[in-house]
Amino acid sequence: MEPTDNGSFLPRIGDIAPSFEAITTQGNINFPSDYTGKWVILFSHPADFTPVCTSEFMTFASMQAEFTDLNTQLVGLSIDGLYSHIAWLRTIKEKIEFNGMKNIEVTFPLVEDITMNVAKKYGMIQPGESSTKAVRAVFFVDPKGIIRAMIYYPLSLGRNFDELKRVIIALQTADAYSIATPANWEPGDDVIVPTAGSCGVAKERMDSKDEDVKCYDWFFCTKKLSLEQVKNPPITI
Ligand code: BEZ
Repeated sequence: MEPTDNGSFLPRIGDIAPSFEAITTQGNINFPSDYTGKWVILFSHPADFTPVCTSEFMTFASMQAEFTDLNTQLVGLSIDGLYSHIAWLRTIKEKIEFNGMKNIEVTFPLVEDITMNVAKKYGMIQPGESSTKAVRAVFFVDPKGIIRAMIYYPLSLGRNFDELKRVIIALQTADAYSIATPANWEPGDDVIVPTAGSCGVAKERMDSKDEDVKCYDWFFCTKKLSLEQVKNPPITI
C-alpha cells in the first residue's frame, strides 16, 4: 500500500486488515490474529471525555450481547492514552445516564494510540477534518482477517449502531447463502440472487414457477430468506 501525503494508509475493501500490537483497557492485543474465527468491528473515536463519543460508547456497550451473539468482537480506538481511557470508562459507568442507559460498563477493548501508529495504518487521521483526532472510522473484519466493509463519519456525526449491526448481519448472510442484499434490507426481507451469467439461466429464471423467487427482469431476481434462516445459517467448515 502507498502512504498518503500525511504518511497514512487508506485500507481497501478486500485487503488483509493491517496488523498491530497494542495496549488496551482489556490488556494487550495482537490484531487481527487474536480474533481469527470471529468477526470484528474496529472503530475509532475522536477523543475521550467528549459528548458524542460518550453517547456512542454507551450505545455500543449496551448492545454488546447482540454483537456477541453475532460472533462479533468490538474493538475501539482513539489517540488518547490508557489512563485517559480508563478514567473515561469509569466516569461513564459511575456518572452518566443517557437515553435510558445508565451504569454502562464497557467491556470490549479500547486501544491506546498516542503514537497514531494504528490510526495511520487505517486512514483514521484525515487532516481535512482534524490532524490531532481520529475521525469516526468503522472497519468490518471477517473471521479470516479480511476487511469486508468500512464507513467513515466526521467528528460531529454520531454513528447509527443499528446500521453497524445490520452491516454485520448482511455480510454474514451474503457469505452463508451466496446472495446480495437490496437497499434498506433488514433480516427477513427478500434477498437478491446472483445475476444470471448466461442466456440459459436468464431464461430459466424468467420462466421459473418457484413461488419464492420473484424476477423484476432477467438481471434482477429476489428470493425469500426467512428471519429463521438468517439467524441459523448453515454451518460451513
Ligand atoms: C464528541 O465526541 O462530542 C466530539 C469529538 C470531537 C469533536 C467534536 C465532537
